[in-house]
Amino acid sequence: MKAAFIEQAGPPEVIQYGELPIPKVEENQALVRTAAVSINPIDTYIRGGAKYWELPSPFVLGCDIAGEVVEVGSNVSGLAVGQRVWGSNQGLLGRQGTFAEYCAIDEQWLYPIPDGVDSESMAAAALVGITAHLGLFREARLRAGETIFVRGGAGGVGSMVLQMASAIGATVIATAGGAEKAAVCRRLGAKHVVDYTQGNICEQVSDFAPSGVQVFWETLREPDFDMAVSLLSEKGRIILMAGRDARPPFPVGPFYVKGCSMHGFVMFKATAEEQRACAADINHWFTNGQLQAVIDRTLPLSEAAEAHRLQEAHTIGNTSTLTGKLVLRP
Ligand SMILES: NC(=O)c1ccc[n+]([C@@H]2O[C@H](COP(=O)([O-])OP(=O)(O)OC[C@H]3O[C@@H](n4cnc5c(N)ncnc54)[C@H](OP(=O)(O)O)[C@@H]3O)[C@@H](O)[C@H]2O)c1
Repeated sequence: MKAAFIEQAGPPEVIQYGELPIPKVEENQALVRTAAVSINPIDTYIRGGAKYWELPSPFVLGCDIAGEVVEVGSNVSGLAVGQRVWGSNQGLLGRQGTFAEYCAIDEQWLYPIPDGVDSESMAAAALVGITAHLGLFREARLRAGETIFVRGGAGGVGSMVLQMASAIGATVIATAGGAEKAAVCRRLGAKHVVDYTQGNICEQVSDFAPSGVQVFWETLREPDFDMAVSLLSEKGRIILMAGRDARPPFPVGPFYVKGCSMHGFVMFKATAEEQRACAADINHWFTNGQLQAVIDRTLPLSEAAEAHRLQEAHTIGNTSTLTGKLVLRP
């Protein structure tokens, strides 16, 4: 089968596109014929040499997948050959990734694709959708009627956060880089969008939410705690999920005096049961039209290295060149 894989860490050029054997299914696994995968920033960190865990060699890149079950292991009870499935959390914690024509994946990480929903959308929504759900509901405990500020509303995670928050009846304020991305955020349900390339973010958010926002979701790798704490209401919650190397200043006084809290997490440490609960809501919202994937473009899997270049420039290089997700098809 064709796959995009690495045998050593390094720049996008280390990605090879070539033949690997079709993986054998273990008893708890399904063999999935890949229809679409999507790229996440963590794919680029791992490829670039981040030593979070030992990688298999060769290491197939990628966390997200949508496809069709073509074989099931002897202990698999909830999946059938021919079923369309999506999943995430692959390529992590020592598991092989998804950038291949076939992937052997533990049943616990696979979910049915709702009728009428295309594979590209499910692949694009996978890791970012589960992340958004965990942060909004397990961590921030966002409720209808509250206001959330999403810094990075047109991004992979941010676009999911703002749609899910809207779906449960929260008011969303988001940032976007430019008029086109602002229009995307409004289309997805943001009540107010601040173009961060123009004017002062804090002033504009304060005009819209004078008594503060209940939740501040930071998607940037350099969190701005002065901004976050100044915009939060009493008992406000900060969601933090990016910026492993960041060491920003922190306004201790205003944070505790307002009784705020801060919640950090990584999606891949959530249990299979927690992630399955997220997937059920994601499927529900895709079915009723409250959630859609934001896909910048779809590339052939053979262009995995180019996809890594584009994602890295956008997320790490701050070029603001993508709107949403890059999807690849074998
Ligand atoms: N903890 C976890 O489990 C977890 C899960 C997923 C992702 N992450 C991390 O979360 C981060 C975001 O991931 P992603 O997939 O959403 O990445 P992404 O699609 O690249 O989104 C990055 C966002 O940052 C925004 N941005 C860049 N510069 C900005 C600025 N100066 N002011 C305001 N916004 C700015 C971009 O806005 P514009 O496009 O409008 O310019 C874009 O919305 C990454 O660091 C990733 O590694 C963590």
